[in-house]
Amino acid sequence: MLKHLHLLFVALVIGIFFWRVYLAQFKPDMLANKWLKITPHILAGMLLLTGFGLVFQGNWLDGNYGWIVVKLILMFVFIGLGILTLKSEGEKRWYALAGSIFCLVYIVKVAFTKQIFWFI
Ligand code: HEM
Repeated sequence: MLKHLHLLFVALVIGIFFWRVYLAQFKPDMLANKWLKITPHILAGMLLLTGFGLVFQGNWLDGNYGWIVVKLILMFVFIGLGILTLKSEGEKRWYALAGSIFCLVYIVKVAFTKQIFWFI
């Protein structure tokens, strides 16, 4: 149940991020919309909360919890690069977007494998 909620917020956070990137590029005026400014914060907050909920529900801190720390750090890097993607222009925007997507892929990999270095 909590995991499905977590996954729902994962999908919503990713969905609204790409939607905002589209708007930033093609309809920048729409980004000023109040709801588009507030909702991402609520969704990211809920993602974090459900993540913490899962950590305690599954007693994940009893074992090797490095993957949780990595997820958390990468989530903040993703948020930082996400802001850079939306605020910068031209080539810089696409580099920041590539970095954001890399973070997301890494987070999902770590979520499933519980391995920090899943590529080794
Ligand atoms: C962008 C951010 C995040 C993404 C994309 C993400 C993605 C996922 C995915 C795909 C799963 C399901 C894994 C599976 O079914 O085996 C999952 C589970 C989980 N996530 Fe996240 N997550 C994010 C943030 C967080 C944060 C910030 C935390 C902790 C503070 C967290 C803690 C957990 C825990 C404990 C589970 C349960 C693992 C299990 O039951 O196997 N997640 N997450």
